[in-house]
Amino acid sequence: MKLAIVGAGKMGGAVLAGAVRAGVLTADQVGVYHPDEDRRAALAARFGVAPLDDDGVHRAERVLIAVKPQSFESVAPLIAQRGGSYVSLMAGVTTGTLAKRLGSRTVVRAMPNLGAAVGASATALAWHPEAAVADREFARRLFLAIGTVHEVAESLFDAYTGLAGSGPAFAAVVAEAMADGGVRVGLSRQVARDLARQVLLATGMLLETKGPAELKDEVASPGGTAIAGVRALERHRVRFAVMDAIEDATERARLLARDGEER
Ligand SMILES: NC(=O)c1ccc[n+]([C@@H]2O[C@H](COP(=O)([O-])OP(=O)(O)OC[C@H]3O[C@@H](n4cnc5c(N)ncnc54)[C@H](OP(=O)(O)O)[C@@H]3O)[C@@H](O)[C@H]2O)c1
Repeated sequence: MKLAIVGAGKMGGAVLAGAVRAGVLTADQVGVYHPDEDRRAALAARFGVAPLDDDGVHRAERVLIAVKPQSFESVAPLIAQRGGSYVSLMAGVTTGTLAKRLGSRTVVRAMPNLGAAVGASATALAWHPEAAVADREFARRLFLAIGTVHEVAESLFDAYTGLAGSGPAFAAVVAEAMADGGVRVGLSRQVARDLARQVLLATGMLLETKGPAELKDEVASPGGTAIAGVRALERHRVRFAVMDAIEDATERARLLARDGEER
């Protein structure tokens, strides 16, 4: 077995499905573990992979740890002290803690985001300095199957959480406000929501080839409607609010990670 998934929930399930879809692994190279036998069988059936018992996890080449961080303490004894390597996507659990609890330095830490559910995650990757090149490469391929990958210093994971982890919530607030604005000027709720979604989708696609300032300048013609709206955004200090949101979210991630380290 090439990969045992411990915690095939929303995120573990998205990585599993993406990896098989992209051909990084075949379904018979992956297995799922759950302490409850019925749950294990149900997860295996849902993803079309093998159910793994304790022994199966021990024998797997690699283990993807995708349980909630608070479950890690109870999971660690089961998966520790194997010969193989680990990829963890638990928020706030550092490679140092992973290495200590798992008794292994072949540890890669990943932070995907909600985009994983639609194959559009922005994943940050960091590894223990002693992680093998093959393990780093495997993690890269695994997460490229569900979106983009950025290799960053682990000290920047909280900043990553502030922008990419929390970002979908900020963008959703903007989408909701745009829809409310549309309703306010007379559009039906459904039409306003569709328009807001489509505008954000198209903007994301356009940003693949041009910078945000350039895009804004293209839309904002002299004396036109867009620049009138941009002025309103500046009046309400929207840039400042967005920058502040990312800073506050980063600070919160830092605090939660520190609490986790102290636990
Ligand atoms: N969701 C995100 O956007 C996101 C982003 C970045 C990182 N993460 C990280 O991803 C991890 C999982 O989050 P999630 O949102 O995917 O949560 P989730 O959907 O609740 O998935 C956790 C899964 O672990 C299973 N589980 C619980 N205890 C277990 C055990 N002892 N052994 C094996 N499996 C066990 C759960 O099964 P039951 O349902 O039976 O309890 C559930 O299927 C977290 O550490 C989180 O920090 C999530």
